[in-house]
Amino acid sequence: MSMLTLGVLASGRGSNLQAILSEMRAGRLAVRLGVVISNKKEAQALHHAKECPSLFIDPAAYPTREDYDVALLQTLQEHHADLVVLAGYMRWVTSVLIAPYRNRIINIHPSLLPSFPGLHAQRQALAHGVKISGCTVHIVDETMDHGPIIAQSAVAVREDDSETSLSDRILEQEHRLLPEAIGAYVNGKIHLDGRRVWVGPLSGSES
Ligand code: GRF
Repeated sequence: MSMLTLGVLASGRGSNLQAILSEMRAGRLAVRLGVVISNKKEAQALHHAKECPSLFIDPAAYPTREDYDVALLQTLQEHHADLVVLAGYMRWVTSVLIAPYRNRIINIHPSLLPSFPGLHAQRQALAHGVKISGCTVHIVDETMDHGPIIAQSAVAVREDDSETSLSDRILEQEHRLLPEAIGAYVNGKIHLDGRRVWVGPLSGSES
């Protein structure tokens, strides 16, 4: 069976991309990396992958978000991406990209969705005083940080947490959860039933 190809979109440091790469390089994640794309020229994420092109596509060169996403779509297709991973991609994705990749775009978000979507999720969690936060891998739909949830990992909030210390502990979980979710996806273990996602064999299907 041929390997699935990933396209990764990232805007910053790219530590989630590094986590994916280290699982691939250790032989624990059987995927090909087709392309890394960033909307930020200075993104560190553009320097991590040796196994594929890493491309900056400049949003300033496109009049609308939709036009930009046409360029993303073309680039992802040129590089044969089967699954698109938003790994710290800090830009709204439109239906121009979502429709042709329906249920084939996943995002990692640093909160237990549906709590605290959007920017500064860890700051929002602290401001709200929750005792447990964490991270979520979900399928991307047309609403931000909203699509069906594949996997979550909980992190206890400490009394003395700052935004940085909480973010660091959540990030550790992100680095485990995102490659695991990609692994489940590529092994055909993700079953979608409306908003509910089952990972692994459906209960009752085992003999
Ligand atoms: C992560 O916390 C991710 O969940 C959020 O932005 C951060 C990106 O980190 N969307 P990195 O660029 O993968 O290091």
